[in-house]
Amino acid sequence: MDYFNYKNGILFAENVDVDRIVAEVGTPLYIYSKATFKDHLQRIQQAYSELDTMICYSVKACGNINILKFMAEAGSGFDIVSGGELYRTLQAGANTSNIVYAGVGKTDTEIIEALNADIGYFNIESEAELKNLIRLVKENSSAPNKKAKAALRVNPDVDPKTHTYTTTGKKETKFGVDIERARKIFADYGKNKSVALCAIHIHLGSAGHTIDPYVEAIEKILALIEQLRSDGFTIEAVDIGGGYGADYITGTAPTAADYAAAIVPLLKDKNLKLILEPGASIAANTAILVTQVLFLKTSGRKKFVIVDAGMNDLIRPPLYDAFHFIWPVKVDKEFVPDRRDKELKPTGTEVVDVVGPICEGADFFAKDRTLPPVKRGDLLSIFTAGAYCFSMSSNYNARGRAAEVLVDGDKFSVIRRRETYEDLTALER
Ligand SMILES: Cc1ncc(COP(=O)(O)O)c(C=O)c1O
Repeated sequence: MDYFNYKNGILFAENVDVDRIVAEVGTPLYIYSKATFKDHLQRIQQAYSELDTMICYSVKACGNINILKFMAEAGSGFDIVSGGELYRTLQAGANTSNIVYAGVGKTDTEIIEALNADIGYFNIESEAELKNLIRLVKENSSAPNKKAKAALRVNPDVDPKTHTYTTTGKKETKFGVDIERARKIFADYGKNKSVALCAIHIHLGSAGHTIDPYVEAIEKILALIEQLRSDGFTIEAVDIGGGYGADYITGTAPTAADYAAAIVPLLKDKNLKLILEPGASIAANTAILVTQVLFLKTSGRKKFVIVDAGMNDLIRPPLYDAFHFIWPVKVDKEFVPDRRDKELKPTGTEVVDVVGPICEGADFFAKDRTLPPVKRGDLLSIFTAGAYCFSMSSNYNARGRAAEVLVDGDKFSVIRRRETYEDLTALER
């Protein structure tokens, strides 16, 4: 569900004509819909309202501080993985007790910043990290006697059935510890005076489309929690991470209500606070990347549409084999799409590769994709570009990063200006 729709053959972001935004801001351009962000958050809040739930939106998915600000105002906490992401949430005025901090390689500086910010939970990925956190809490002169709270990240050894690069909850990944080791870590540190190890964290992976792996993983960690409690340890919360599906193809991802229908009954009456870390399921459908057609060309049997956005702007297709629906911003009425799907092939369309200007074979957005006829100067919308798109963008080929625009009803504002040549060299000496 989102607020990007065609009206009389013209793509609108909420109530604003995409063409009009491009005329002012140019391309390549990320356009976000505030209503879509808020709607997705609200659906999760409603789906889990029976439980004591803390929703921590995953900043890595899309972390512009304007977005984090209205998400915090709408009741979201945040899942962070670096000092930089903590800084972003502080800039956005987040309630720091609703922040959870994961990551296998937190530096001392980052840990001290998070201690000083008094975040909710450190999600601990190894025994070595826990020992280091205990040391830093003891040495923290700015907050003597202050106890930090921690969740132990456990690998439930469950396959989320997604791309190998986004699979994180199997036994032999670099994340968390296996269940057997978890009991030993509680035995050694579960009653520590500086760090209250009082929660269990899991994160299976990203962009899965099945609910069963969550059920399997939660059942495994509930058994662990029962054992830990009977060993005398206090477990107050369970953080089940992110990875919930997003609709890259219309209607393919389970909804927040679908996930909750399977998850809530497992956790009811367990005296556990539930923490969720959704990234893509909130952000993916909140944005489009608009790009302009530069040239058409044919080589052998292949037709190419060369556009002004590149893999530096959006890298998911070559990195994850990801599908992003692509369609012109303005279309004749027979080409108005009724869904976003690679199988959408109305008569009169042609099969093309949509590629960028970067000097790499990996610089593509779609291969052998059906598109209505386009010409130089036309605008294309790359849909479902809200998660891991701008946040993974780079300056490769000395290209300035795209601008970001936020639409709110019938208004829009630039929330990050386009990078200039001067920005590219500003830090070089
Ligand atoms: C620990 C953790 N939590 C949450 C997320 C968010 O995942 P998603 O965007 O798939 O919901 C990630 C993504 O990498 C993660 O590593």
